[in-house]
Amino acid sequence: MKAIIVYESHWGNTAAVARAIAEGIGSGARVLATDEATAEVISDVDLIVAGSPLLGFSLPTESMLKGMATNASKDPTPPDLSHPSMRAWLETLPSGSGRAAAFETRIWWSPGSAAKAILKRLEALGYGPVGKGERFIVEDKYGPLRAGELERAKAWGATLAQAMADEG
Ligand SMILES: Cc1cc2nc3c(=O)[nH]c(=O)nc-3n(C[C@H](O)[C@H](O)[C@H](O)COP(=O)(O)O)c2cc1C
Repeated sequence: MKAIIVYESHWGNTAAVARAIAEGIGSGARVLATDEATAEVISDVDLIVAGSPLLGFSLPTESMLKGMATNASKDPTPPDLSHPSMRAWLETLPSGSGRAAAFETRIWWSPGSAAKAILKRLEALGYGPVGKGERFIVEDKYGPLRAGELERAKAWGATLAQAMADEG
């Protein structure tokens, strides 16, 4: 099974979860930033797993990212703004007939869901959802991930691979 895990990540939490999911899926899984997951790369992929942080109660918007660039000096570490957003990636993604799953990293108590927004868009493009969106929790605004979340991400990756195998 060919899978890609494509992510938006500014402080590394979502990228770390993406790598753990890939480990759980096993051989055939590739972790890609949005600009690496080109239409050509994803054309023969069986499963797309897409993830982003929940920022400002939603899938990050372009205006939020502009604000983050302006305020970067106030952050404990500057955000990585070198890749297109998940929102922009989804806008240019061609329609397809493969399967898809989505995840987000977030604080536990927040309203809103980036994963739901991602999955909705992927479904609208024709990708069939494998399960519901999954949430991985950070301890504080910039991270780190809660203890055990990377193990849970790996296990979720294995569950996705199993679901794909069960469907044949
Ligand atoms: C400016 C800013 C806004 C945030 N807004 C939210 C939010 O609305 N809800 C939430 O659950 N977490 C929020 N967070 C926490 C991030 O979702 C969390 O740190 C995430 O793991 C960051 O992912 P990244 O390290 O991959 O960029 C916010 C963090 C920052 C820095």
